[in-house]
Amino acid sequence: MAPSSSPLRTTSETDEKYANVKWEELGFALTPIDYMYVAKCRQGESFTQGKIVPYGDISISPCSPILNYGQGLFEGLKAYRTEDDRIRIFRPDQNALRMQTGAERLCMTPPTLEQFVEAVKQTVLANKKWVPPPGKGTLYIRPLLLGSGATLGVAPAPEYTFLIYASPVGDYHKVSSGLNLKVDHKYHRAHSGGTGGVKSCTNYSPVVKSLLEAKSAGFSDVLFLDAATGRNIEELTACNIFIVKGNIVSTPPTSGTILPGVTRKSISELAHDIGYQVEERDVSVDELLEAEEVFCTGTAVVVKAVETVTFHDKKVKYRTGEAALSTKLHSMLTNIQMGVVEDKKGWMVDI
Ligand code: COI
Repeated sequence: MAPSSSPLRTTSETDEKYANVKWEELGFALTPIDYMYVAKCRQGESFTQGKIVPYGDISISPCSPILNYGQGLFEGLKAYRTEDDRIRIFRPDQNALRMQTGAERLCMTPPTLEQFVEAVKQTVLANKKWVPPPGKGTLYIRPLLLGSGATLGVAPAPEYTFLIYASPVGDYHKVSSGLNLKVDHKYHRAHSGGTGGVKSCTNYSPVVKSLLEAKSAGFSDVLFLDAATGRNIEELTACNIFIVKGNIVSTPPTSGTILPGVTRKSISELAHDIGYQVEERDVSVDELLEAEEVFCTGTAVVVKAVETVTFHDKKVKYRTGEAALSTKLHSMLTNIQMGVVEDKKGWMVDI
């Protein structure tokens, strides 16, 4: 049964094309769908064909490394419904590759690229009616790789579970204009030699304290600084960051503490295509405060303008709205995803 805050209607009314959802009310919250994908494999062996099963709770050993030691990775990608009713996903191969990189770092057995993409397609197909109508949201797809077999000592799990669930979603940040960011000078998200550069489950809970503190002070999100010097910007709780000054678009480099976002990579390419010089380099907090424009990118977030940044007692306001580069890049990206313009890059995969 859906929680009371869910946009699901409580009647049993259904139709074939669409699930029973109040699409206009979607935020970034779980709406339970019909099916999920599950595959298991022993450590060092390969995943074989998984199964589409009814969406629901899973059974897992209390002694599994995911529960005890956080041996787990997740991914995020989306399915889109176009005006001519095609259903497509965005660059799933990139998520598959990132899961493989993360699996290497956490000593896990990952699915192959083909298995990953095939499993995503099967999950979307089984839940087709949960892909929102064009312009009313997207189906957010969440692949998980979990160390699910039992081992008491600190060691790789003897068994892995590859699971994919999904949920129709709307906007991640519920602010109509830009984000108001707080630069965190107390907590850090990642450190050199750690797991900040892979999509480890363990990267996310530690940022919640900082996020809640910032939200209770009226901010929309937090921007973290590098742990080594405290001078360079890294990323937000769940997305990458870019700054714009003149013709130069800069974003911190993926050298171990920054998540290599698929949207980050795609937006860098699109900005380059329209004549901007795109630089991946250390960006100091001083440069951030002097930028003309700041924006964030991520699968959940898409492309979101930053309206203000606050660092200690200094608050800076940036360009947003029609004149902003982020507005242009947002439409360039979503026009490709929604099939409004031709996908000349080969990024979209039809289901
Ligand atoms: C995504 O954008 O897919 C993410 O992983 C962010 C998530 C933590 C909400």
